Amino acid sequence: MSKEIKTIGVLTSGGDAPGMNAAIRAVVRAATAKGIKVMGVRRGFNGLLTGDVFPMDRRSVADIIQRGGTTLQTARCLEFLKPEGQQRGAEICRVFGIDGLVVIGGDGSFKGAEKLANLGINTIAIPGTIDLDVACTDYTIGFDTAVNTAMDAINKIRDTSTSHERCSIVEVMGRHSGYIALWSGLCNGAELVLIPEKPVPTDEEIIKMILQNKHKGKQHFLIISAEGVGGSERLAKKIEKITGMETRASILGHLQRGGAPSATDRIHASMMGSYAVDLLLEGKAKRVVAYVDGEYTDFDINEALAMKKGIDEQMYEISRLLS
Ligand code: ADP
Ligand code: F6P
Repeated sequence: MSKEIKTIGVLTSGGDAPGMNAAIRAVVRAATAKGIKVMGVRRGFNGLLTGDVFPMDRRSVADIIQRGGTTLQTARCLEFLKPEGQQRGAEICRVFGIDGLVVIGGDGSFKGAEKLANLGINTIAIPGTIDLDVACTDYTIGFDTAVNTAMDAINKIRDTSTSHERCSIVEVMGRHSGYIALWSGLCNGAELVLIPEKPVPTDEEIIKMILQNKHKGKQHFLIISAEGVGGSERLAKKIEKITGMETRASILGHLQRGGAPSATDRIHASMMGSYAVDLLLEGKAKRVVAYVDGEYTDFDINEALAMKKGIDEQMYEISRLLS
């Protein structure tokens, strides 16, 4: 059984995601309501190493539940990859009296949290990433907002693409994960979805599909491609050259990481933040909060990191069937 928790730290790390603020708020309010002190850590593990740590009370998280980004700011911290950096991080936690730490981020941040836990700081991780690429959980904070943002942008691209009878390639975020592409492809009725988890058709196969569609009388052709597949501009030029159909590539980029969090993100963030505090108060450490089959649960960080997330096969097949 771990020692009694008196002070909890909270930080956000890695790529930001809409809903991180709602998670910070939940951690601060759930903890203070139970008589636990909270310290905010700015700029992820960087802030820990520079001692950028400050006390937070329930008022300090007023008016942030609706805001995108993270008010604690986020960063990548190379020094934390090294054992000396992790040692220093644990020592700084002790200097500030932080005996439990909530880390909100993706898989990379979980590894940092795991290292701190091994050095005696009780850590709990909360999945916050728009990519939905954390294997132990059905949901990661930020995904719903990002998909809705992509969907709105694609709706607009589709309008102009239809007017001009063009082919559009829209590249959405996901360096290693096709979830945003798959969901936005299905909800925008894309003709083709390209994701890193599945074999990408050859240029010739794609061009054949476009020509067949053209002969069926379709006025436009919409391809949604995940960032990890790459080559959107090159493919657009080749399609235009061979099919004669004007083709444009649009890379949606970081707008998908911003914006006010959706209701779904605010709810999951609130539930997960408060669940993380409960775990710390139960004396738990080195756990990841997860949402599985409609319920909140938790896993050992190492077990969670060893899990592999595939793509949703059923959804992938349906997106092809309906295209
Ligand atoms: P995400 O959390 O979104 O997956 P990153 O992979 O960029 O983002 O990781 C965020 C930060 O987590 C890194 O900059 C680093 O400080 C820390 N981190 C990542 N991997 C490790 C590791 N193996 N050991 C310790 N810390 C790590
Ligand atoms: O937040 C996840 C993600 O959006 C990935 O899809 C993308 O590869 C990465 O972040 C890019 O992040 P940055 O531009 O901040 O390095």
